[in-house]
Amino acid sequence: MNLPELHTHLWDALRLGASPTRSAFTIWQLATLGLDGAPQLRSIVLREADESTGTLAFHTDRRSPKLADIDADDRVAMLSLDLDRHVQLRLNGRARPVQDGARVRRMWDGARPHTLILYQTPHAPGTVIAQPEDGHVPSEPAHSGFDNFTLVEVVLDAIEYLDLTPGQHCRAVFRRDDGAWRGQWIAP
Ligand SMILES: Cc1cc2nc3c(=O)[nH]c(=O)nc-3n(C[C@H](O)[C@H](O)[C@H](O)COP(=O)(O)O)c2cc1C
Repeated sequence: MNLPELHTHLWDALRLGASPTRSAFTIWQLATLGLDGAPQLRSIVLREADESTGTLAFHTDRRSPKLADIDADDRVAMLSLDLDRHVQLRLNGRARPVQDGARVRRMWDGARPHTLILYQTPHAPGTVIAQPEDGHVPSEPAHSGFDNFTLVEVVLDAIEYLDLTPGQHCRAVFRRDDGAWRGQWIAP
């Protein structure tokens, strides 16, 4: 595979990861800089991958600490792994909550109900509660949860590919420079 073919292959993998079909790149680890400067890491589900704009998107609770991190410093890193194929993808970008209300509403309307229930919880994620049940969604929730639902977009500026298949190790990085992606092979 040459670099342009690899770039196409990577965006295919990102699109598949963002599709409703579960794939190796559905779940990502998202790193932010915590408000105290320490790194913070958590899993998220990839929901959109748009090659034309070089952006990914995931949804989250408006009240979650990761949004405060992003508000203070929008730099994020993301990592996911296809264990069967020995492939790691590592991304860098800048995150921001999507302000386009119609786009957020479309994402909400297209999501599976069991995903959206989480946004009806009465307490902000991370709130101390007396027992696990106190964090459950009430049987008659006061609201749909839409007000807590946020779509976060990550504008990528680097995509790194590492394939550690025995006998054919391969690593490349694509960086965005003035809107165009430039790839280079690098040592694994
Ligand atoms: C399989 C799995 C998928 C998850 N997907 C998301 C997600 O798409 N968005 C999200 O905000 N949190 C998701 N979470 C929960 C986060 O990992 C995290 O615990 C939560 O968002 C609180 O993070 P914060 O305190 O850093 O804001 C997921 C957790 C698991 C185990």
